[in-house]
Amino acid sequence: MADSINRLGLNEAFGNDSTPLPLFQRWIAEAGESEPNDPTAFALATVDAVGQPSVRMLLLKGATEAGFVFYTNMNSRKAEELRTNPRASMCFHWKQLRRQVRISGSVTLVSDADADTYFASRDHASKVGAWASLQSSAMSSRGEFEQRVEEYRAKYPEGSVVPRPPHWSGWLLQPSEVEFWLNADARLHERLVYTAQADDVWQQQLLYP
Ligand SMILES: Cc1cc2nc3c(=O)[nH]c(=O)nc-3n(C[C@H](O)[C@H](O)[C@H](O)COP(=O)(O)O)c2cc1C
Repeated sequence: MADSINRLGLNEAFGNDSTPLPLFQRWIAEAGESEPNDPTAFALATVDAVGQPSVRMLLLKGATEAGFVFYTNMNSRKAEELRTNPRASMCFHWKQLRRQVRISGSVTLVSDADADTYFASRDHASKVGAWASLQSSAMSSRGEFEQRVEEYRAKYPEGSVVPRPPHWSGWLLQPSEVEFWLNADARLHERLVYTAQADDVWQQQLLYP
């Protein structure tokens, strides 16, 4: 299977891997060198109970054989939608590199231990913000939010241990499909899609641009 990419005559930027993770890791590392900000940013699409899609930007916090990890407020719209329909799609676009990666699959919650470890790594202001924000709920004024931030700053002063809020955790997206897109002249772009088969085997397929 690994030789098939070369046989397909793709740009060498695609490499020659039998699974999508190594290529994803190379491309996101290259984005880290080239993008002016947020190289880990991606659009996350979710779908609600009546099939209405919704998309928003998030930051990727992990990419391993197990899947792709992001963190958020568990009372948010996205979390509500993921509980209702635990399938999602991610789309990365790196403007400097003119590359896109599109990933779809099913999601599960990360472990409390993993969420605790990541939350502890955040800076103090972000931890306080996670307590203060009722993400995606209606807010009567900006002042209401600022007051909540002040209250949590007083409760958890700089230098104190800020516990992870019970409503804040992460999701792991286990991919069933990962598509790599590379810009080419005259819109003759290159697309390679990996589709998960049984037993961790991935099928590779070219798509017309
Ligand atoms: C570049 C960028 C990165 C973001 N990263 C996150 C993130 O990692 N987690 C998060 O909850 N919201 C993040 N946001 C905010 C979300 O886009 C969104 O406004 C928020 O999560 C509420 O979405 P929801 O109402 O669909 O749940 C980010 C926004 C931008 C523009």
